[in-house]
Amino acid sequence: MYGIVNKAIEDLVTENFGEEKWQEVKAKSGVDVDFFLSNEPYDDAITYQLATAASEVLGITVGEVLFVFGEYWILKTGKEKYGGLMQAGGENLKEFLVNLPMFHNRIMLMYPKLTPPEFKVSNINDNDIEIHYFSKREGLQDFVHGLLSGLGKMYETKVTISLIQTRETGSTHEIFKVAW
Ligand code: HEM
Repeated sequence: MYGIVNKAIEDLVTENFGEEKWQEVKAKSGVDVDFFLSNEPYDDAITYQLATAASEVLGITVGEVLFVFGEYWILKTGKEKYGGLMQAGGENLKEFLVNLPMFHNRIMLMYPKLTPPEFKVSNINDNDIEIHYFSKREGLQDFVHGLLSGLGKMYETKVTISLIQTRETGSTHEIFKVAW
């Protein structure tokens, strides 16, 4: 994944727990990179190693790390570094989610070597929607859960998110129902 993802994990840990904790996470991860260049692609293994090390150092599960990281990605990385792009995604939560399948097309213009997730939407109603998540990567469903929760917070909309199918039980992809 592009360095911006690893850099955001670094920022999340540093802002909330301090520089020392980040050094501990980095040492434990075995990742031998001095600093991450946002526009350079890195091996996916690095991102997984950082998330695993953060879970060990902070005493929370990898799933919890990914969830918190998802919220951080929307509320900090997205809002602060790509405010215009996030705003263009929609005027309210429903609009943003309906547009989500196209979202990474624009990101691809900035990051041409992106391996983006794929989203589809179904059962669009006034107060809920189903989000289908397809990815070549494993184990990121809690990240998506955190992203969806972060979007609810971004639009100051109280959301309920339920996972209605997952690859963990043999389905082809994850489906989240988001209700507001
Ligand atoms: C301005 C905001 C955003 C930027 C700049 C961005 C950029 C990126 C980048 C660079 C990656 C790493 C992929 C790679 O390097 O190959 C990524 C992955 C991902 N993004 Fe975004 N993204 C943004 C918003 C979102 C939103 C709103 C969602 C969904 C709600 C989302 C869902 C994901 C997921 C799930 C992945 C993990 C990749 C996978 O599942 O295979 N992103 N994004």
